Amino acid sequence: MSSPRLKLEDLVVAYGQSTIIRGINLEVPENELVCLMGRNGVGKTTTLKTIVGLLRPESGLITMDGRQLDRLPTSERARSGIAYVPQGRDIFPGLTVWENLQTSIIVKGKAARAQVDRVFELFPALKGMLKRKGGVLSGGEQQQLAIGRALLLDPKLLILDEPTEGIQPSIIDQIEDTLLALKAEKRMSILLVEQYVEFALAVSDRFCIMERGSIVKAGEISQLDEKTVADHLTV
Ligand SMILES: Nc1ncnc2c1ncn2[C@@H]1O[C@H](COP(=O)(O)OP(=O)(O)OP(=O)(O)O)[C@@H](O)[C@H]1O
Ligand SMILES: [Mg+2]
Repeated sequence: MSSPRLKLEDLVVAYGQSTIIRGINLEVPENELVCLMGRNGVGKTTTLKTIVGLLRPESGLITMDGRQLDRLPTSERARSGIAYVPQGRDIFPGLTVWENLQTSIIVKGKAARAQVDRVFELFPALKGMLKRKGGVLSGGEQQQLAIGRALLLDPKLLILDEPTEGIQPSIIDQIEDTLLALKAEKRMSILLVEQYVEFALAVSDRFCIMERGSIVKAGEISQLDEKTVADHLTV
């Protein structure tokens, strides 16, 4: 068997004295979409930040395609094929849409330029607003820009932190279509953090549920039943 695209083993992460992630194990197989779920404050974003290198684990192992990641700087992880769309977007508000996209082209060069048409196919609305400043876009448009910018990197692993949070329904539908289209292409793995259960059900292959820094349940998305949702997800 080939190694999974991403593997977390016994990962422990703390902020100062308080341990937030308490020894989690998680795998994202090649070309699959895994949804990390859980209520507010359980440690989902902390997990993602540790994968991309913004936080250093206390202990545990992070590997991508069998290669150990946890000593590499964030930039090196990006170069090895990880693209990250943080919670709350994080586009450059003072740069135009086109300039925001350029930031990926600068990192990735020609290879990113080759992805531009594909990104406009997935998010046609972006094409009509290239000269507008990122900061004047709606939340949904900013989310499309943030995902589009990540896709220009043509990542092996796309990481999305609550892409539907505070976004109008029509754009949530477009993001859902985009994730389904990316899955159909079978060229990247996706780790999605999401609390919107219907959205997770529509796009995921597998789920993991976190509670206070531990993974309490995981399986194929078809196994995510109403009781599990009521017990661990809804407020
Ligand atoms: N910079 C920080 N310093 C100290 N504690 C933090 C810091 N960031 C987050 N925490 C704490 O770590 C815990 C996990 O936070 P995290 O942001 O990972 O949760 P989350 O599952 O992403 O929540 P949400 O669904 O609200 O985004 C919370 O108790 C939070 O208060
Ligand atoms: Mg979060």
